[in-house]
Amino acid sequence: MSEFHYQQGSLWAENVSLEQIAEQFGTPTYVYSRAHFERQYQSYAEALGEHPGLICYAVKANSNLGILSVLAQLGAGFDIVSEGELERVLMAGGDPAKVVFSGVGKTAHEMRRALQVGVHCFNVESEAELERLDAVAGELGVVAPVSLRVNPDVDAKTHPYISTGLKENKFGIAIDQARAVYRKVAASANLNAVGVDCHIGSQLTDISPFLDALDRLLALVDELAEDGTQLKHLDLGGGLGVRYRGEEPPQVSDYLGAVKQKLAGRNLALVMEPGRSISANGGALLTRVEFLKRTEEHNFAIVDAAMNDNLRPALYQAWQDIVAVTPGSGETETWDIVGPVCETGDFLGKHRPLALEQGQLLAMLSAGAYGFTMSSNYNSRTRAAEVLVDGDKTYLVRAREALADLVRGESTVPAKN
Ligand code: LLP
Repeated sequence: MSEFHYQQGSLWAENVSLEQIAEQFGTPTYVYSRAHFERQYQSYAEALGEHPGLICYAVKANSNLGILSVLAQLGAGFDIVSEGELERVLMAGGDPAKVVFSGVGKTAHEMRRALQVGVHCFNVESEAELERLDAVAGELGVVAPVSLRVNPDVDAKTHPYISTGLKENKFGIAIDQARAVYRKVAASANLNAVGVDCHIGSQLTDISPFLDALDRLLALVDELAEDGTQLKHLDLGGGLGVRYRGEEPPQVSDYLGAVKQKLAGRNLALVMEPGRSISANGGALLTRVEFLKRTEEHNFAIVDAAMNDNLRPALYQAWQDIVAVTPGSGETETWDIVGPVCETGDFLGKHRPLALEQGQLLAMLSAGAYGFTMSSNYNSRTRAAEVLVDGDKTYLVRAREALADLVRGESTVPAKN
């Protein structure tokens, strides 16, 4: 079931046509379906069921305040990686006690703020970070809740740029060193070991690497118990894949069912950090064809969205479906859908069979995750608007940037004399 569907010959998000959204808000515009985010979050919450734990939505996937507020209203937790993400969660009404703070480079300032608001835990990624957290908590006279992010050295079999659980990656503490680092946690009056976590990669379409990682983490949990450290939770990170093209990712219920089976009989809460699987298929990037340009080698459709709006094709050679909002009247031809940015890598999709005409509206699907959040102002392009659809209502959850936004904080310098 998709909240993006055709009716009356054109593409709709829930009960609003994308043509209407383009008319009202212009293009390029990210369009989100509230119902999709709610359904995907609930699939995790329901799969967790009575098992104690937290579903901490990974804010980096889509951090728009409108989206975060929808999830906060459902009681979601949040996985954050910066002070900026923390402040967004708080502004959206999220509960800091349900926030896990991940990331390899937390500053002392970020730690202070997170301790002051009372996050659920810090996912600590190195000994140096642990020492800093120890010092900051000591200064504030509080005890920092710690989960060590361990690197279980499993191959997530995904794109190398989004694979994070191998020894060679910068993330986490090698699992064979973790026991010694937990001893340091136990020895500090400013730190309290509450959990263990890992995140092995993103867009996984098979659950076996997750279960391998879980087995390794559980073996560590048992070793720690021998040392007198009883952890309260285990956090498996995010990473569950979605269907962009032909992928058949596991159902959330099957994945969590298998995880809960392994946790049976243990007194361990389960934390998850899903991003993409909640957000990707809840968004589309709406764009208009500016020009059609036929060359000897290629047919180019130059659209008003570009790599600065959605970097995934350029950065990962990612494939996302591109569909006509209203089918064109001409013949179907093969098109490269490209933006106006001055880079050969500026494309949204290649070799797409479409019947196109100038001025036509297209929608790049599965754009709800790592779309707007990875956008930039490259080529001094103002960033797109974001619109949240809820039934037959639309909310402009981020206004299109204006020229003043582009140069905010910049200044010219006086001429040399
Ligand atoms: N937790 C941690 C510690 C993470 O680093 C990530 C994602 C997540 C959770 C959420 O993972 P998800 O459920 O979304 O797979 N920009 C790339 C994806 C980068 C993922 C980074 N970490 C893309 O567009 O494919």
